[in-house]
Order: sequence, then structure tokens, then C-alpha cells
Amino acid sequence: MLAPPEEGGYALGAPMRGLAASRVLASRIPAFQPGDTVYGYSGWEDYSVVDGKGYWDTTKVPPGVPPNLAAGTLGITGIVAYFGVTEIAKPRPGETIVVSAAMGGVGLVASQVAKILGLHVIGIAGGKEKCDWLREEAHLDGAIDHRNEDVADRLDALCPEGIDIFFDNVGGPVLDLALERLRPHGRIVLCGITAHYDHTTGLPGPKNYSQLIMVNGRMEGLLGRDYFDRFPEAIEALRAWIDAGKLKSKEDVVVGLENAPSALARLYSGANVGKQLLKIEDPKLTLT
Ligand SMILES: NC(=O)c1ccc[n+]([C@@H]2O[C@H](COP(=O)([O-])OP(=O)(O)OC[C@H]3O[C@@H](n4cnc5c(N)ncnc54)[C@H](OP(=O)(O)O)[C@@H]3O)[C@@H](O)[C@H]2O)c1
Repeated sequence: MLAPPEEGGYALGAPMRGLAASRVLASRIPAFQPGDTVYGYSGWEDYSVVDGKGYWDTTKVPPGVPPNLAAGTLGITGIVAYFGVTEIAKPRPGETIVVSAAMGGVGLVASQVAKILGLHVIGIAGGKEKCDWLREEAHLDGAIDHRNEDVADRLDALCPEGIDIFFDNVGGPVLDLALERLRPHGRIVLCGITAHYDHTTGLPGPKNYSQLIMVNGRMEGLLGRDYFDRFPEAIEALRAWIDAGKLKSKEDVVVGLENAPSALARLYSGANVGKQLLKIEDPKLTLT
């Protein structure tokens, strides 16, 4: 049975865990039948034995949803983006939102949901290819290449009146730049701190947080699992937008279990263009 990580890390020799879309081969849990596709925690391994309980309980993937979408836009990635924008940011049409790591899994859904809801959307991403995709395929109002452009200058040019909402996947210097430009009653959605995950010592705090006082601003953390019970509501909305052609998915699929560590590393080098997925194998229908 796949064990949860012990406090302070994984036990030596235990498989890494991750959220996956998997095919059920055998089940003692009545809710799951052989042949079902499920979404939940499993190991970085070809076959996993799970009890379906944990940080994110295993759920059945609705019929017609392919595994790539189940593990991406219609998985926790899409949920945090959906509720982060609709419930934490509480957007009003016409407001300006800036999204960091906008060409990543969460960022791409958050940016497009904001666009669908009538916001002025600026994405921050690394490199020309990502920024072109954001403008041309996701139809954002602007994109900033944080690896090759001066982000402060570009924010001033693209958000001349300031920022109403900052959806932050990254943390680091960009958070300070957004704080500096926050408009009255501005909101900052704290989704992730990718710029800091490799820190082994204390996290640096944002320098400009006093700006929250000056603009009656709000900074709020977002935890996807809080919305577990409302998973179906988000899936229904996101699926409808996908079907209507309003929400595009972009996945970056690395193939082969042996490439799992390098696939994970792509998130930190920024090599992934879209949701980083690892395909272990096509689903089997029976036990071999
Ligand atoms: N709160 C929750 O419940 C929840 C749930 C799921 C995910 N998350 C968080 O959401 C964030 C996005 O997750 P994701 O899976 O969609 O990853 P992702 O955004 O697809 O991948 C990470 C991206 O971050 C950017 N990046 C990496 N290092 C950076 C640095 N030092 N400075 C600035 N940007 C950097 C890179 O994009 P560029 O090349 O474009 O810079 C990279 O592609 C993560 O922080 C994740 O932990 C939170």
C-alpha cells in the first residue's frame, strides 16, 4: 500500500507520490470498478495500491474526459485556477489582473478564466514562445517575458492604472513589483511560490507588503483541497468552456517513468510549455 510521506520527508526507498489519472485494474472499494479511470494520489511507479484517501481523495474521472485533461485542466490544476479567480480574487469585469507563470498549468487556466469573465489580463512568462502563445492562442491582452524584459517597465506600460488582482504562482521579486502597483482594494491570490521551492533556508518575505495598508489591499492564500467538495462544480464550468472553444489546454508531456525526475525539474528551469505531465504508460484494461 502506498504510504503517505512521513513528517519531514519520504521514508528511504518509498516511492515518490503524485496526482495521477490511472486505470483501475482491481478494486475492493465499491465506488471504483475495474476499467474506471480515476484521479488521485499514486506512486511514481507502474502499478500502485492505494486506499483512495489522503490529501486529495481519489475521484472517478467523468466519462469522456481523457487522462491528460483529468490530470491537468480538469484536475487540481484547473480547480485552483478556477476558484482562485472566481472566489478569492472576486473579479469585476474590466478590472486588470496579472498572472505569474501564466504559461504554466495553473496560470494558463487562471488567465483564460479571467479573460472569459471580462477582465483585462496580463500574463508573465519566460521566453518569447510562451508569450506569443499567451497573446495569440489564449488571447490575453498582454504578456511580459520576465527572462528577457524589464518586468517593472512592462507592467507600467501594460497596466498604466495599476493592478486590481495579482494571481501569483511564483513569489519572489515579481510579487514586490505587483504590490507596488496594487490599486485601491486590490487583491493578491497566493497560489504558489515556485521561485522559492529550492530554498533550504528561511523564505525571504515580500518587501512591499506595507502597500496593502495604503490601498486597503488583501492578500489571501489559496489551497485547492479546500474546494474538494466543489470539484464537480468547477469541472462542469471548465468543461463547458473547453467545449465552447473558450478555454484552451496546453500540455507538455514527457514520456517514460524513468524521466519522472527530469520532468519535475522542468518546472524549475521553466522548460515546460503548458501543464507538465508525465505519461507512464497507456492504460491497461486488465491485469497482466
Ligand atoms: N495552492 C494550491 O493548492 C496549489 C495547487 C496546485 C499548484 N499550486 C502551485 O501553483 C504553482 C503553479 O503550478 P504548476 O504545476 O502550474 O506549475 P507551472 O506553472 O506549470 O510550472 C512552474 C513555472 O514557474 C516558472 N518559474 C520557475 N522558476 C521560476 C523562478 N525562479 N521565477 C519565476 N518563475 C519561475 C516557470 O515558468 P516561466 O518559464 O514562464 O517563468 C515554470 O514553467 C506552483 O507554485 C504550485 O506549487 C498550488
